Amino acid sequence: MVWLLILLVFVLWFVFVRYRNRHKRKLANLCRNNRMSLPIIGVAHHFIGTEEDRMKALMKIGREAIKQGGFAGGWLLNMLMVVIADPFDAEEVMRVSLRKMDGLDITEDLLGNGHMFAKVPIWRPRRKVIAPMLSQKNLEMFLEVFTRNSENMIDKLTKLCGQPISLSKYITAYSMDAICETSLGIKMDIQNNQYHPFLLAFQTFEKMVVDRLMQSWLYPDFVYKLMPCYRIYKKQTDILQEFVKQVILAKRIKFRDIENENLAECDQLQNQQNSRKSFLEQLIDIGYNDIDLQEEMLVLILAGTDTSAAGASFTAVMLSQHQHVQDKLYEELMEVLGNSDRPLEPSDIPRLKYLEAVIKETLRLYPPVPAVVRMVEKEYILPSGFKLVPDVGAVIHIWAMHRNPTFWGNDAEDFRPERFLDNNLKHPAAYMPFSFGVRNCVGARYAMTSMMTVIANLVRKFKLLPPKNVYSHGSQKRKKTKPLRTKFDIIMRHVDGYEVQIEERR
Ligand code: HEM
Repeated sequence: MVWLLILLVFVLWFVFVRYRNRHKRKLANLCRNNRMSLPIIGVAHHFIGTEEDRMKALMKIGREAIKQGGFAGGWLLNMLMVVIADPFDAEEVMRVSLRKMDGLDITEDLLGNGHMFAKVPIWRPRRKVIAPMLSQKNLEMFLEVFTRNSENMIDKLTKLCGQPISLSKYITAYSMDAICETSLGIKMDIQNNQYHPFLLAFQTFEKMVVDRLMQSWLYPDFVYKLMPCYRIYKKQTDILQEFVKQVILAKRIKFRDIENENLAECDQLQNQQNSRKSFLEQLIDIGYNDIDLQEEMLVLILAGTDTSAAGASFTAVMLSQHQHVQDKLYEELMEVLGNSDRPLEPSDIPRLKYLEAVIKETLRLYPPVPAVVRMVEKEYILPSGFKLVPDVGAVIHIWAMHRNPTFWGNDAEDFRPERFLDNNLKHPAAYMPFSFGVRNCVGARYAMTSMMTVIANLVRKFKLLPPKNVYSHGSQKRKKTKPLRTKFDIIMRHVDGYEVQIEERR
């Protein structure tokens, strides 16, 4: 009798779920790429395996979307995900659906209401405050920070000429030093301290978030808190938050001291400070409380460090494999900066057109964030005619969009920076390494300036070559290079650790 009752409840539940999901099932049937799916688990099995396998699965589904005119989809367990590789549809999703995917709130322990993954009502006012801080005017002031820190990196690399080196470690340290100095206003000197507790905690935290993201049964907090790994995870969040808390405290004490000084001295100090204020100081001025400050600082560091490092490192690898592009870039650098060691100045940035094109072309082929997911909250029809329904995850497949031949031509897979010189985008959303619309990357301009500085300084000082064991670089002939092997953890990275070889230019 009890069994019969359980069976009845189960059948009723099953019928209810099927009825509730009827619109989603209709949409799933339209996706047409069902051959990638298995019953119950959907496409989840494609994402099992190594980080490289995961990236391969993402690429496969992206190509599938391109083949089907820009739209594909599949069930990820009980969640329907539609995959979009068409800029017209992507633009509409980015306009209408501002909510981030639910699973991403697993970073909430660290970031709290930090605006990156925050719910829309919290995100909107915070974004309004942060955006002007990353404006062009402020970035010009930060150029000195980028230059000084990239020069530190160059000094380290000079000792490694003539041997294969993995750039990732050096550029990530540069990137973290720069972002911490501009955000928190402190010099971390990670470049000289690879075992800095903040760096180690940051890297362990990222790895643990990815492990959890890939095991959906660990999403509920009460389950994760029962796992032995939770203690390690909690320790990392504590280290990161405590570090930032101490910096905020020190800054507040300093501000209080300034207030207590006599007015003349105060004015003098204030003038000095105004000449370059960190994001933290600007937010204190606005009146943010300590918790909000901590959340926003951690968001900027988390969002800005690895992404910019990956962008610059991919660019260096692409330059090492395309000597004719590197030669042309070197010529531009000589033309704009002369044969000197002088640091980059704000007025140089808009003149370095080819450098910008090289970085943009790298981010097209190797976008550090290869896809973003938005939650659909209300029903709407896309320009392609597909009707999205609530609770569907819309995956904007940046990687596939950037290789869609309808918008990039038949040479979409080739590395050709020149395509960015004529600025002939067929649709503004066809290129979106920093995402698109009002919730795009707030740090896009900051990231471009940081990457331009570090690549300009690298190429002025060194000739970048592929490591000897991968390609013979004796010949200057252009040859078709293989696509880079990539993997996907929290972002997309190079499987071979961005390995290059450097030779000092005379
Ligand atoms: C090459 C470097 C970078 C790339 C490729 C990149 C890419 C992205 C992407 C794709 C998003 C997701 C937007 C969405 O969900 O639609 C994003 C968001 C964000 N990025 Fe970046 N980013 C980079 C560097 C930076 C830097 C340097 C900072 C900080 C200084 C930063 C801060 C943020 C923040 C705060 C958000 C959340 C924006 C919001 O929700 O309003 N990013 N980024």
